[in-house]
Amino acid sequence: MNTTVIILAAGLGTRMRSKKAKVLHRAGGLALIEHVVAAAREVAPPDRILVVTGHQADEVESLLCGTGVRFVRQRKQKGTGHAVVACKEAVAGEDGLLMVLYGDTPLLSAAALLRLRTTQEGSPSAATLITTTLDDPTGYGRVILGVDRNVRAIVEERACTIEQRGIHVINSGIYCFRSDLLWKYIAELKPNNIAHEFYLTDMAEILTRHGYQVQAMHVADSTELLGINTRVDLANADRILRQRKNEELMLAGVTVERPETVTIDTPVQVGMDTVIEPFTRLLGTTQIGEDCRIGAGSIIESAVLADRVTVKPYSMIADSRVDSGAQIGPFSRLRMNAEVQADARVGNFVELKKTRLGAGTKSQHLAYLGDAVIGDRVNIGAGTITCNFDGQKKHETVIGDGAFIGSNSTLVAPIEIGKESYIGAGSVITTPVPVQALALGRARQVVKPDWVVKKREKRAVAKKRSAV
Ligand code: UD1
Ligand code: CA
Repeated sequence: MNTTVIILAAGLGTRMRSKKAKVLHRAGGLALIEHVVAAAREVAPPDRILVVTGHQADEVESLLCGTGVRFVRQRKQKGTGHAVVACKEAVAGEDGLLMVLYGDTPLLSAAALLRLRTTQEGSPSAATLITTTLDDPTGYGRVILGVDRNVRAIVEERACTIEQRGIHVINSGIYCFRSDLLWKYIAELKPNNIAHEFYLTDMAEILTRHGYQVQAMHVADSTELLGINTRVDLANADRILRQRKNEELMLAGVTVERPETVTIDTPVQVGMDTVIEPFTRLLGTTQIGEDCRIGAGSIIESAVLADRVTVKPYSMIADSRVDSGAQIGPFSRLRMNAEVQADARVGNFVELKKTRLGAGTKSQHLAYLGDAVIGDRVNIGAGTITCNFDGQKKHETVIGDGAFIGSNSTLVAPIEIGKESYIGAGSVITTPVPVQALALGRARQVVKPDWVVKKREKRAVAKKRSAV
């Protein structure tokens, strides 16, 4: 049956105590709303998904604009029922089923939504809602069930009697309505509660009153129904999402050592037989190939690593690319479109910024290579610096294949070092070096033989004189 999904994401989320709208807070490396949209996309095409925005609507909409979903603005947030009413025009003519999800339940799975739809489709009910039992139901709406196990009403915590507070069956806020009946009766919602809001939850009682059934789909594992209201809830959701991601990767053939210490964002991809050591963070859109090893304490953000890459401990790689067989670290930093080609090596305290390091090239110790294009099989000595900034502009350094850059060289950009040339250690290079040349840019060494002996003799003579 045709399914339209409405996701409510207009509230500020007062209990978060934040200037930022609640659905923009992140768990598992994505904004809460991104998780909900991803689940919704498994049950409906993007043009049948509506996100209701209000607080920081521009930010929420620009975050989601690539997904193809539609937006409806709820200018004043007068409750979850009011937010659904705001969509009425936008979904006019869309028959079938209407699912309503809240933007602050990021753990829900597509599987649960598919089961919800099947349950509703195969029943005479006007709506189905997902319920669960919680040891501590604080903060959730309590579900009042009739003897037939159908839902009679949902009572928000603030309106609960003492007995109702004792009910542990809660409303998850995930609903599947028959569209025609929802739109027929939604006008009956009234803001007659302490908050003066239009509660969508009152639809259960309204539909029942009109002689329809509202059924509960009870889910035993309550973790995926966690609603985020506070930062404590946010931290819990984050922990669960991280654990899920680690397990997904382990089951797909990735070794994760001490997984409880490893942080991997939901969109990250890792290939088979890669080993992830403790305390690593794999963030953003990072993609890692097969047979890699990611050393302890490394942070890799939105980077692409091909197969057989070794990252030794405590390295940082951001927005960069590393080709197969290359070795990075320990203590290396790659950033801003750095590119390390096959089998190259980047070692301790080497920083690469917007720099391409050719295949088989080595920069093993203490270097800054910025805005440089470095060829294949180049040797970059310890302490080499590309001076890419003149105080106003950045300039490029080009180093040809097979060049040898002696230790402690200072390459003042813009500069070009020819193929297979040599730079003597300690040189300051300011003019281009031709192919296969040797360039020395340092003061000639002076050696004064027996200088110490002569100095002592002079001193001794002076002493004698003054004693006379
Ligand atoms: C809601 C349910 C409660 C349920 C719980 C599950 C109601 C009245 N209560 O309570 O029964 O147990 O979720 O997590 O529905 N929103 C809007 N516009 C508004 C108000 C809210 O878009 O005018 C959005 C919020 O941004 C949020 C979602 O709706 O994403 C839920 O709102 P929230 O205030 O968190 O509802 P709860 O009090 O948690
Ligand atoms: Ca909530």
